[in-house]
Amino acid sequence: MQNLDKLENYIREEGLTYFIATFGCQMNAHDSEKIEGILTDIGYQKTDSEKTADFIIYNTCCVRENAELKIFGKLGHLKSRKSKNPNFMVALCGCMMQQDVVLNTLKKSYNFVDIIFGTYNIYKLPELLQTRIETGDKIIDIWETHEEIVEDLPSIRKYNFKSCVNIMYGCNNFCTYCIVPYVRGRERSREITDIINQVQNLANDGVKEIMLLGQNVNSYSNSFASLLKSIENINGIERIRFMTPHPKDFSDELIEVIANSKKICKSIHLPVQSGSTNILNKMNRVYTKEDYLTLVDKIKRAIPDITLTTDIIVGFPGETAEDFNETLDVVKKVGYLSAFTFIYSKRTGTPAATMKNQVDEDTIKKRFNTLVETLDDISAEFMHKQIGKLYKILLEEVSKNDKQVLSGRTDSGILVHVKAPENLIGQFVDVTIIDAKTHYLTGQLY
Ligand code: SAH
Ligand code: SF4
Ligand code: F3S
Repeated sequence: MQNLDKLENYIREEGLTYFIATFGCQMNAHDSEKIEGILTDIGYQKTDSEKTADFIIYNTCCVRENAELKIFGKLGHLKSRKSKNPNFMVALCGCMMQQDVVLNTLKKSYNFVDIIFGTYNIYKLPELLQTRIETGDKIIDIWETHEEIVEDLPSIRKYNFKSCVNIMYGCNNFCTYCIVPYVRGRERSREITDIINQVQNLANDGVKEIMLLGQNVNSYSNSFASLLKSIENINGIERIRFMTPHPKDFSDELIEVIANSKKICKSIHLPVQSGSTNILNKMNRVYTKEDYLTLVDKIKRAIPDITLTTDIIVGFPGETAEDFNETLDVVKKVGYLSAFTFIYSKRTGTPAATMKNQVDEDTIKKRFNTLVETLDDISAEFMHKQIGKLYKILLEEVSKNDKQVLSGRTDSGILVHVKAPENLIGQFVDVTIIDAKTHYLTGQLY
């Protein structure tokens, strides 16, 4: 490790501030917490004002084209800031940077960007900053793959009562539409002892709810089920969530562990992507419509109060009206509480990008709207049935629309708004449900 005294003195003397914007999934959100920890360690102060910050970091996502366009749009506004503030710097990191086409565009048209790093070398940020400041050279440091999992990075947590914990990085599944395996690399699981120690430390810090993160959590090392069992034993942790499991790796043992657990939340995010076996096959999802429905049946039988959520892609190449109807059929049979719905986005370098019969935009839009309506109807019906029920919720934050209202979540992940004093944030409370909308409930303190 380089000696960073000079860098730290400079940052502290100038009283420099940073602003970070995070795009994409929980992986990126979690990486940003580490970046915040690193920057705080070397003396930077955080600001929420993008307009006045001395250092701007965009942690980027490339899973869909929209995500990339957003970044280029934002970058356009930054160039002129350099002439006004001699300390001003811009850094880009995250998944988008792991693609050569993006790097070439940045070099050609956005050469005012000071530092570019990728998904494998976050921990090197202080060294990159020091080199940039000492030499004046622009820095591009992208690794093609990881060298080792670096443990014990500092991190600033957004909430003090809940936290995400990475259990694995990367993905080996190569779904044919998806760029994640190319930008996040092969699957690597963290050592179980490192995970347990981290969760224990979080519990000691007052964390009550943890979310175990990975692109494919149930292919964790030898056994995700036994990891869950070990975490169950940690005192202080009251709720365990995880994201994302892959249907093909959802074992009977895992279902049993969830069913018998007092802490694992009775909500599972189980991405289906499509209800058509034909499309699932082209997507390389390695399960059929029937496999998926059988799995859901098994889960529902073992855990009657389970809620399920999912991810669905509309308009994958070759998707016919019949294929789409199969998706609607699965949606109705499963009865998802909610779903992330995506319009298929062509990602250069993935097998699906060159598949024939790309679906036209109008057809996709119509299907997308039908899908959202179907999901909303199911959700609204489910939500209305909750009126009058009693739920235990963990209060998480002040509602965006009403300062006197706090938002929390039930064990099964349902969003509940309830009038309550701010000092109850981070506490479990019992509420009676008094009203229901399509995507949230309103409750009253019991
Ligand atoms: N590993 C997780 C999440 C991956 S990305 C999983 O397998 O579920 C989150 C979601 O983005 C995916 O589930 C998928 O629904 C969607 N997605 C990924 N690539 C996409 C693409 N090219 N176009 C549209 N949606 C995409
Ligand atoms: Fe992408 Fe599929 Fe891996 Fe999820 S499981 S990250 S969708 S390749
Ligand atoms: Fe996006 Fe990277 Fe996540 S591409 S969805 S931020 S793993």
